[in-house]
Amino acid sequence: MSEEQAAGNANPRIARVIGVASGKGGVGKSTVAVLLAQALSAKGSRVGILDADITGPSIPRLLGVDSFRAEADDGKLVPIKSDGGIEVMSINFLIEEETRPVIWRGPLLSQAVKQFWTDTAWGDLDWLIVDLPPGTGDVMLTALQSLPFDGLLFVATPQDFVSMIVAKAVHMAAQTKTRALGLVVNMESLVCPHCGKEIPLFTGGGAEAPDLGMPILARLPWRADLAQKRCLLWDGLSEEVRAAVSGLAEGVEGVIARAETL
Ligand SMILES: Nc1ncnc2c1ncn2[C@@H]1O[C@H](COP(=O)(O)OP(=O)(O)OP(=O)(O)O)[C@@H](O)[C@H]1O
Ligand SMILES: [Mg+2]
Repeated sequence: MSEEQAAGNANPRIARVIGVASGKGGVGKSTVAVLLAQALSAKGSRVGILDADITGPSIPRLLGVDSFRAEADDGKLVPIKSDGGIEVMSINFLIEEETRPVIWRGPLLSQAVKQFWTDTAWGDLDWLIVDLPPGTGDVMLTALQSLPFDGLLFVATPQDFVSMIVAKAVHMAAQTKTRALGLVVNMESLVCPHCGKEIPLFTGGGAEAPDLGMPILARLPWRADLAQKRCLLWDGLSEEVRAAVSGLAEGVEGVIARAETL
């Protein structure tokens, strides 16, 4: 977090703010955000998720929280709690019908994300996970400039490595002095739903990640249970997924702890 961010925007009730990003859409950011949040919560932390994807909000559905449930208290939005006790704020709580699109231009979208940070009555949280929108546009830039991120977790699929898209997002983080915590390589192999065997989806048993200047914190295979479930609540996840995501949570905690002792 830059000094300017720390001074201007810190929320004393929120210990750490982690963004989940990727230059690209559809690579598993929201999936990783809800899994990481629940893994941290399962370890005893108090966790919230800020859904910064205003035009494609998916956190309420993934956590089984209804839309249009916004409540206000003392002029602030009250986050909605998931079954597992995770505090959530999403644009879907403010619109009546979740299938209705939010047709706003960039500045309004950015304003909404800022307000989800400043005007939400977040409780005392050990971690706030921010599910960032795809791309390196207005909303991502505003989020990086106005939220006091302790770091960003990047999600990519192996085919992204051959493009420059993830690198663009990594450079954007660097330019706004936001720490890159590590990479989650998603869907590089397929776990056969019938025999459980892991089959590489890319040549040579998994494409090599280029040097993006950060450690790989987890490799999640494509799994039918993750693809098919409408909602990804912790109790309904397989042991394998829980173990992989708990490892990711430990990796994130480790990187943050090391950064804090520097
Ligand atoms: N490891 C996985 N195994 C199986 N399916 C997955 C996995 N990760 C993500 N998916 C599926 O891929 C799709 C895209 O995932 P998700 O919505 O998390 O991506 P995203 O990066 O947040 O997308 P967007 O850019 O639209 O916000 C979803 O249907 C999700 O269920
Ligand atoms: Mg998403």
